Amino acid sequence: MAKKTIADVDVSGKTVLMRVDFNVPLDAGHVRDDRRIRMALPSINSVLERGGRLILMSHLGRPKGEGFDEKFSMKPVAERLSELLGRPVQLGSADFGDELRTQAQGLKDGDVLLLENLRFHPGEKKGDAEFGQFLASLADIYCNDAFGTCHREDASMVAVPQAMGDKPKVMGFLVEKEIKYLQDAIANPERPFVAILGGAKVSDKIPVIRRLLGLCDTVLIGGAMAYTFSLAQGGKVGKSLVEPDMVELAKELMAEGGEKLKLPVDTHCGRCADEITGDCEKQIVEAGQIPDDFQGLDIGPKTAEAYGEIIRSAKTVVWNGPMGVFEVPPFDQGTRAVAEAVAAVDGTTIIGGGDSAAAIEQLGFQDKVSHVSTGGGASLAMLEGKKFLAVELLDDK
Ligand code: 3PG
Repeated sequence: MAKKTIADVDVSGKTVLMRVDFNVPLDAGHVRDDRRIRMALPSINSVLERGGRLILMSHLGRPKGEGFDEKFSMKPVAERLSELLGRPVQLGSADFGDELRTQAQGLKDGDVLLLENLRFHPGEKKGDAEFGQFLASLADIYCNDAFGTCHREDASMVAVPQAMGDKPKVMGFLVEKEIKYLQDAIANPERPFVAILGGAKVSDKIPVIRRLLGLCDTVLIGGAMAYTFSLAQGGKVGKSLVEPDMVELAKELMAEGGEKLKLPVDTHCGRCADEITGDCEKQIVEAGQIPDDFQGLDIGPKTAEAYGEIIRSAKTVVWNGPMGVFEVPPFDQGTRAVAEAVAAVDGTTIIGGGDSAAAIEQLGFQDKVSHVSTGGGASLAMLEGKKFLAVELLDDK
C-alpha cells in the first residue's frame, strides 16, 4: 500500500524530525558533491514554506559511536545547506541530551536545526530503542527522506518511527521518487525492458542479476565481472580482475539466462603496472582472448555498438555499474557509449546509485535520464527486491 508523504500532513507550527542522507563527500572541510543535499530540498522546503519547524538528522561517514569527532562533524553540511536555503541552519549539540533538547524547544516556525552526526552516539548503529525515544520526543512528526540509508536499521531509521506512537510518520519526496523508479517502474515495465549491469564483482551482483533475469527482456553484462563469466566459458582472461570461486555460479546464471543474458564480444585491455593509467600499452581483442600480461579494462567497440543498439530500442532501462574503468580515459569509452545510448532512449531510464551515478554525472548525462538514484547499497537492495523496514513502518495512505 502507498505510504503517506510529507504533503499529506499539516506541518504549520509543528516540529518535523526529518531523517535525511547527508552522507556526502568532503574535501578540506567543504562539501565536494552536494547532490544528496539538493535532492532533499523539495521535502525541506515543503515544511518551511508551510510554517513548520525543522529538525534534520543524518549520519556522515562511519565514526564508531564514541562521541564528537571534528573530522565527521556535520558543520560543513550545515554551511552548504544554509547557502542552498538562503537561511541560517543551526548545528545541534553533540550531547544528544539536555542541551540539544533546549535547542529543539527554542525553534520557531521556519527555523532549521541540523543535528550533529548521529553516529557520534553509540545508540545509532545499534538501533537502540532509548536513543530512538529521545529523538522521537523532540518532534511532532517524523519524516524519512533518507533513501540512501533505507536498507539500514539504525535507530534514526527504525527505533524513531517505532517510538513516535500515534504521531504521524511519513516519507519525503525523495524516498517517494526513488521507490517510484527503483521498485514500481521495474515491477511494471514498459517493454522491451533492458538491464545493464557492470561493476567489479559478480559476487556483489548475483541477487540483482537473478532478479532482473526474471523481469527483463535482456540483461547486458559489462565491467570487470564480465571476465569471471569469460573464465566460466573457458576464455583467457590474462591479468583481469576475476573471482575464480564465482565461476560455477556464473555458469548457473548463464544457463538460467540463456539468450537473455548478453556478454561482451570484445575487450579493451591494457598492459599496466601497479596503477592503471591511460598511457599503458593497449589492445582490443575478442572476448576470451586477453594476452597473459594484459588486463581487461573496458568493453570493446563491437560490444559497445551491439549494446547501444539493444539499449536504444528499449522502453525501460535500468543501469547499475560502469562498463570499465571510466575514471581513466580511454577506458571510459564503453561506459560513455552506454551512457549516450541510455540518454537517447525514448522511455524510462533509471540509473542505480554509486559508481554508475558518478559515471553518468561525470559524463554529463544526468539531465537526460528519468532518474539517478542517490542510494548506493540501498538502490542495489531495492533492485534485488528487498523490503525495507524503515519504509514499512511509515503510515499507510
Ligand atoms: C551510503 O552512502 O550508502 C549511505 O549513506 C549508507 O552509509 P553506510 O553504508 O555507512 O551505512
